[in-house]
Amino acid sequence: MRITLILTWILILYLSSVSVQSKYHSRSLPYDSEEAKVTNLHFFLHETISGSNPTVAMIAQANVTNNDNNSSVPFSTVLTLDDILKIGPESNSEVIGNAQGLGVLIAETSTTNLLWYWDFGFITGKFNGSSISMFSRNPTTAMVRELSVVGGRGNFRMAKGYAQLQDYIQNDTNIISELYVTVIHY
Ligand SMILES: *[C@@H]1O[C@H](CO)[C@@H](O)[C@H](O)[C@H]1NC(C)=O
Ligand SMILES: *[C@@H]1O[C@H](CO)[C@@H](O)[C@H](O)[C@H]1NC(C)=O
Ligand SMILES: *[C@@H]1O[C@H](CO)[C@@H](O)[C@H](O)[C@H]1NC(C)=O
Ligand SMILES: *[C@@H]1O[C@H](CO)[C@@H](O)[C@H](O)[C@H]1NC(C)=O
Ligand SMILES: *[C@@H]1O[C@H](CO)[C@@H](O)[C@H](O)[C@H]1NC(C)=O
Repeated sequence: MRITLILTWILILYLSSVSVQSKYHSRSLPYDSEEAKVTNLHFFLHETISGSNPTVAMIAQANVTNNDNNSSVPFSTVLTLDDILKIGPESNSEVIGNAQGLGVLIAETSTTNLLWYWDFGFITGKFNGSSISMFSRNPTTAMVRELSVVGGRGNFRMAKGYAQLQDYIQNDTNIISELYVTVIHY
């Protein structure tokens, strides 16, 4: 009898908390960090900078002069890109996805800097349909650049992590970069 009474009270308290909380958000529950997984990825980013099928294009450029003359790129240039992700650096290597994004070129000082918003989407294997979002500065003068992973879709939902990017080949027409990515996701 006493137990039934206690259970009834628990039920009443639960229902009242549900009705109070059910306005536009759920009850906040403890976050189960035990569910988190870590995945390491290794692939190559293939970028074509000139020719008939470039994967990067300029959207706009502000008409401002640099503070110094030594930069090869002007301050305030907005770029768009749709680069190809492959398993290896060779052009006939297997395509695993693409990186679509927006970049801002910054060369206000003598160090050219890029700020990227990049979505790396995969089209094969376990992560087919999933993608990783990176939002980071990319100091092009550094040999190995660290980029931050700020989110993801599909299997990479709620991802966080980092990537290390290094140019593998850079010439007048192509840039091929090698990426090591560590992602914590659910
Ligand atoms: C760019 O700025 C310079 C100097 O302010 C000006 O003379 C020129 O007309 C501008 N060009 C364009 C395309 O707005
Ligand atoms: C830019 O170059 C010109 C000519 O070489 C030079 O006179 C000027 O001082 C330079 N400006 C800066 C900010 O370095
Ligand atoms: C630009 O280049 C000149 C000559 O190479 C150098 O003396 C100067 O320090 C450079 N300026 C900046 C801001 O890096
Ligand atoms: C990737 O997923 C798409 C959509 O579900 C599917 O059409 C395609 O066949 C898959 N590709 C591979 C290689 O599994
Ligand atoms: C630039 O690199 C690409 C990819 O390796 C290669 O196919 C192309 O022939 C190279 N171009 C030049 C001018 O070296």
